[in-house]
Amino acid sequence: MMLRNSSRKLTSRLFSSSAFKMTAAPLDASKVKISRVSTPSKPRPNDELVFGSTFADHMLTVEWTKEKGWDVPEIKPYGNLSLDPSCAVFHYGFELFEGLKAYKTPDNQVTMFRPDMNMKRLNKSAARICLPTVESEELIKLMGKLIEQDKHLVPEGRGYSLYVRPTMIGTTAALGVSAPDKALLYVITSPVGPYYKTGFKAVRLEATDYATRAWPGGVGDKKLGANYAPCALPHQQAAARGYQQNLWLFGPEKNITEVGTMNVFFVFKDAATGKQELVTAPLDGTILEGVTRDSILALAHEKLDSNNWIISERYFTIKEVAERAAKGELVEAFGSGTAAVVSPIKEIGWKGTDIHVPLQPGKQTGPLTEQVAQWIADIQYGKEKHGNWSRIVA
Ligand code: COI
Repeated sequence: MMLRNSSRKLTSRLFSSSAFKMTAAPLDASKVKISRVSTPSKPRPNDELVFGSTFADHMLTVEWTKEKGWDVPEIKPYGNLSLDPSCAVFHYGFELFEGLKAYKTPDNQVTMFRPDMNMKRLNKSAARICLPTVESEELIKLMGKLIEQDKHLVPEGRGYSLYVRPTMIGTTAALGVSAPDKALLYVITSPVGPYYKTGFKAVRLEATDYATRAWPGGVGDKKLGANYAPCALPHQQAAARGYQQNLWLFGPEKNITEVGTMNVFFVFKDAATGKQELVTAPLDGTILEGVTRDSILALAHEKLDSNNWIISERYFTIKEVAERAAKGELVEAFGSGTAAVVSPIKEIGWKGTDIHVPLQPGKQTGPLTEQVAQWIADIQYGKEKHGNWSRIVA
């Protein structure tokens, strides 16, 4: 008896010493458990695909606790989650998400476009709201395995893809406000078609200064659900006045920051020198670090002739846009994001008048907008190779 008690004490001392402290497990794709649907669904015809409204057969889930780290990843049939109604996500907005796309190439491979960029941003978002970070490469492998299960549902053809939506939520079941000690990472996928079914459709924007999307010291550069809900009301208000999206302005200078849920680019042409400038707002913490934004800047630097073009990440204001439009120096404007890739702009409502943005005759887009869309699609659909931008999954 004595012996048993003392050996128990020794064991408990040993296990409480730092040498034996349990280390939280990293995310490990090799541990994934896969249970497949018994009857895989049939692909829908391309013309029935509406963005984000139908989902592929499988989803990925991984639970995390502060004590144990990441649990075994599971790929299983798409279905409801069962969560305690007191979970942190439902009360205090502990939620982040990502959006990327997988493409079918002409040789029947499936590739993800720049998933490493999404992982980087996911980890920045997670760190900002005290959710766990992930081992990027492991989550990329897990997304690959998930996509592989539903390879037959990745649509073929330009404009068509499988939209991939990684999401993380805090699942601590308690109403005290603190950093979650439990979380759920899940990934769902949705076969999608082109954002504009009948080709480009240039949009009218309302320059919005009565509501602010993001501000210095805030979280505008993170992909948090909390950034999106407050934009629904200004969107409705702009729509009631006949504008499809908000052009988000910031500060006393009324800097142009983003459009709707996208980054925004403008093209100006200096009347004196004839030189054109492609300009977008700088990544100062209020601007989402868009993967499409980054790709456009990289391609513009590579492909546009620097004798005729300046590529700028700088502050610019609605006043500059209005003045340069009046001088005939506003050449084109477009939004950029994963969903639509590029979205041409044709008018901007500001102070009771509409600033007109030129389009090509008989087209719904400016020339650079059209060219940028082509450059990116050529890489995404496997016609052109660009470094490690396309990651083969299956
Ligand atoms: C994107 O296009 O990149 C977006 O974030 C849109 C998404 C919220 C549907």
